[in-house]
Amino acid sequence: MCGIIGVLGDHEAAPILVEALKRLEYRGYDSAGIATVNGGKLDRRRAVGKLVNLSDLLVHEPLPGKAGIGHTRWATHGAPNVGNAHPHKAGPVAVVHNGIIENFRELRDELATHGLKAETETDTEVVALLAQHYLSETGNPKAAAQATLARLEGAFALCFLFDDQEDLLICARKGSPLAIGYGKGEMFVGSDAIALAPLTNRIAYLEEGDHAVITRAGAQVFDAEGNQTNRDIKVIEIGNTRVDKAGHKHFMAKEIAEQPALLADLIANYIGADNTITLPGDLNFADYDRVLMVACGTGYYACKTAKNWFETVAGMPVEVDVASEYRYREPPVGDRTLALYLSQSGETADTLAALRYTAGKAATIAAIVNVPESSIAREADVVLPIRAGVEVSVASTKAFTNQLAILLMMAAKAAQDRGKILAEGLIDGLRALPGILNVVLDAPDNVQSISRGLAEARDVLFLGRGAVYPIALEGALKLKEISYIHAEGYAAGELKHGPIALVDKHVPVIVLAPRDRLFDKTVSNMQEVLARGGKVVLISDEAGINEFGADAWRTLTLPRVHPTLAPILYTIPVQLLAYHTAVAKGTDVDQPRNLAKSVTVE
Ligand code: F6R
Repeated sequence: MCGIIGVLGDHEAAPILVEALKRLEYRGYDSAGIATVNGGKLDRRRAVGKLVNLSDLLVHEPLPGKAGIGHTRWATHGAPNVGNAHPHKAGPVAVVHNGIIENFRELRDELATHGLKAETETDTEVVALLAQHYLSETGNPKAAAQATLARLEGAFALCFLFDDQEDLLICARKGSPLAIGYGKGEMFVGSDAIALAPLTNRIAYLEEGDHAVITRAGAQVFDAEGNQTNRDIKVIEIGNTRVDKAGHKHFMAKEIAEQPALLADLIANYIGADNTITLPGDLNFADYDRVLMVACGTGYYACKTAKNWFETVAGMPVEVDVASEYRYREPPVGDRTLALYLSQSGETADTLAALRYTAGKAATIAAIVNVPESSIAREADVVLPIRAGVEVSVASTKAFTNQLAILLMMAAKAAQDRGKILAEGLIDGLRALPGILNVVLDAPDNVQSISRGLAEARDVLFLGRGAVYPIALEGALKLKEISYIHAEGYAAGELKHGPIALVDKHVPVIVLAPRDRLFDKTVSNMQEVLARGGKVVLISDEAGINEFGADAWRTLTLPRVHPTLAPILYTIPVQLLAYHTAVAKGTDVDQPRNLAKSVTVE
């Protein structure tokens, strides 16, 4: 799962490649590399770790040439070292790859019988070796690339560069997205339109099984059957947005702080002055019997929260699943099902595959995405943008709250469409929520001192009930991914069925307990923790803290909101606790180890 870029330009390629890789670094940052062809000869530079290491290397060892390819890696096969870094080179061929070549072992054994020995642990190297093999047989780069592609199983976006070919890139897509950018006398290839945005706004997306032969004069695209075809060139409006930290120490801090304004914008976009909710594609929930929601990670927790809302607010049955499980179960899908795929990036491979499984089965396929140009958006019938702006921090924050808000508005619309009376004050409460989030974010509180305590812990538990149970799961995910502390979220009532065995005086237990109809039940579970010496952090509103705060190790007091809105509000303290704990531990907050922002492999 990686980012790839290709350039046939009339300027030096290396700086263009590095700049584009910066925009792709969200896809992985285990290593980065570029290759160019100059004076007929391929050469490459590769460095382990963040892109800055490659930039430093290029200062000392520049790489001339106006045709090049580049790669930023999230390791799948083989450790993140220089040898395994892309571009991979075999004789006169260099290649960059996003995806997984599933039959690489068979191919590697076969190539060895031709005397072509793999030197790395990667699946990608066989692609370069195969192309070298076929090039020696045919003497023709295009024929060699085509013969190579015909042998590959799995998912890939590939871009080839050849010795002696300073006006040729060959690229291919199967399972992993790839876009061609049309410049003026220059051509580009990239994993997504964002990478290409500063270079050109004229983009054509390759379709499944396509490959393209690209020169500075244009691109010849061939479909999966090998027939020449046309792919529409679209003018996109991403622009040369360079995001900065706006004075914050980390992107995550900036993105947490942006939430009230983004939420207000989102609500204004979907709810009219008369409280009418209008959704794209005129979605009407009276047309469906059930909703299916599929997502991964943080997005999955947004869907779990929404299940509670759809069922309690609209009386509408919802099935929720993680995409990596859903896609292989072959579940039946009714023709009155609204299938909803939620993804910040819109590129998550499992979610995209799950969407494709339902295509033609569900009545409507809707995508909730932050990137309207993304693959998931392009394959859906209806797209609901979450309007969160570019999210740079790998740990998702502002996308999550806007995902929650859009799902809540959908649940409210479902209630209206199905003739249910909406709970009084819900829409007004939602409108007031951005202001309340602002107060919570501005208020001087003890989050930082609690976080310093959490930073000492080896394990942390999060408990919640009802609609805030998924927020406990999200809190645990956020804490573990950026502070590397083991954390688990549990439904408060489940604790006694096993996890309570973990509780002792060293284990902080963060209890999310808005003073709603389930408050007393959650507090009973908290008492069970206290009885076993657990260190409780109670997060509740004033009434809840007044009643039970004295028993807790630490407390966080939040304003009281409409109970249905509590999941959005209670997200803020769990984000802040994760952030400040990571800062206290000195971890890489925005780019935590082993992760990537967009997961384009299964
Ligand atoms: C965690 C996080 C991930 C993503 C997951 C799905 O902070 O960001 O768990 O939520 O990888 O990504 P998208 O939403 O892009 O499909």
